[in-house]
Amino acid sequence: MSSTIVATENLTKRYGTRTVVENLDLRVPAGSVYGFLGPNGAGKSTTMKMLLSLIRPTAGEVRIMGEPMTRRTRRTLLPAIGSLIEAPPGYAHLTGAENMHLVRRMLDLDHRQVDEAVRAVRLQDQMGKRVRDFSLGMKQRLGIAMALARRPRLLILDEPTNGLDPAGIEEMRRLLRRLAEDGTTVMVSSHLLGEIDRTATVLGILSGGRMIFQGSRSELMAASTPDVLIACSDPRGAVSALAPFGARLAEEGELVLPGPDDRRTAEAVAALVGAGVGVHGVRRSEQTLEDVFMSLTEGDGL
Ligand SMILES: Nc1ncnc2c1ncn2[C@@H]1O[C@H](COP(=O)(O)OP(=O)(O)O)[C@@H](O)[C@H]1O
Ligand SMILES: [Mg+2]
Repeated sequence: MSSTIVATENLTKRYGTRTVVENLDLRVPAGSVYGFLGPNGAGKSTTMKMLLSLIRPTAGEVRIMGEPMTRRTRRTLLPAIGSLIEAPPGYAHLTGAENMHLVRRMLDLDHRQVDEAVRAVRLQDQMGKRVRDFSLGMKQRLGIAMALARRPRLLILDEPTNGLDPAGIEEMRRLLRRLAEDGTTVMVSSHLLGEIDRTATVLGILSGGRMIFQGSRSELMAASTPDVLIACSDPRGAVSALAPFGARLAEEGELVLPGPDDRRTAEAVAALVGAGVGVHGVRRSEQTLEDVFMSLTEGDGL
């Protein structure tokens, strides 16, 4: 038994000469909600499709529950994975119940499994409606119910919050947390950190096909040093005195030093004092996780 449910080694996908996923070493701990983040085009969907063996890696390996995903093993591994990739599935002209019936027949499941899945996504009172009359959030939840019906150990959801209104997003977050509490490992992607950061127990951040961070929220916060803001008697003079520190002037007339450590901060203050500038206040900027995410993924074209 492995406590890592998904692991990849050097997972790489090239299209022609373009590398869209590069040397990815992904680790999804069992029982986690793994938030797979990155701007549009970062390679999230491509990675998830490789995990599901929907497209073939150019290089590298995918291991699911410790077992390499190969042509031979995929038949035994895939039934343990439920997924929702791109548009939610389901026939629009059929009701929710009819769609679930098809899933039940196709996968040869018993009624109880289907009922449980529908209850898990809280759609049990809406199943008589046609899917075309569902809201986007309901469609996403039906798609998740379809993926859940087989009782997967792992659920892979590609941008399930995309296009949802704030209430729908909140509902999705709660659903993901409940699923994880019930023992399903959830890997969920988003291009917006704020949609899943508080739900995810582990974050993996992809930028330009590369994993630039993998760990907890607090590790992510610790991985970056916030800017230092200095209030002083002569901000304009101070900017030139602190040119070697990359100082710039903020709108409020404060100096901004980009991400200096404590020693560098002390040196900057000493330099100001040496230049005859009165230092009135020194503070670290308040950095949000969103700021960290933005600065990490900066330059990655949307
Ligand atoms: N079949 C394909 N052929 C060529 N390029 C592709 C193909 N699929 C995806 N890409 C490119 O790979 C990059 C990553 O895409 P994708 O995995 O969909 O990113 P994300 O899901 O993070 O938005 C994009 O630049 C996209 O244009
Ligand atoms: Mg995508």
